[in-house]
Amino acid sequence: MARHYVCDRRDIAENGMATFDLTGGASILLLRVDDQVYACDGVCPHQEVRLEDGLFDGEVLTCHQHMWQWNVATGEPVGLAECPLNVYKVDMEGEAIYVDPDMKL
Ligand code: FES
Repeated sequence: MARHYVCDRRDIAENGMATFDLTGGASILLLRVDDQVYACDGVCPHQEVRLEDGLFDGEVLTCHQHMWQWNVATGEPVGLAECPLNVYKVDMEGEAIYVDPDMKL
């Protein structure tokens, strides 16, 4: 799969997150902290739960279902999480955000 245009940065609320379903089936969650944007899987690696429904404090993403947590910059588990979260490189061109779901960090 190649790099995909996902959205413009202004499409994500500041300090918010939004899920995008890419052509080819990947569900990607984009998380915005000021001008920085992170990308990770949109679905929890534990069960089929949308991570967008969880909590994000600007660094740590929490799945609301069983409170697994990850650092969104690295995908490393925090606290209760039993496995890492796939995170992806984000390319910015002006306001445009591109992600290649085959390019895990
Ligand atoms: S479904 Fe996300 S932590 Fe269990």
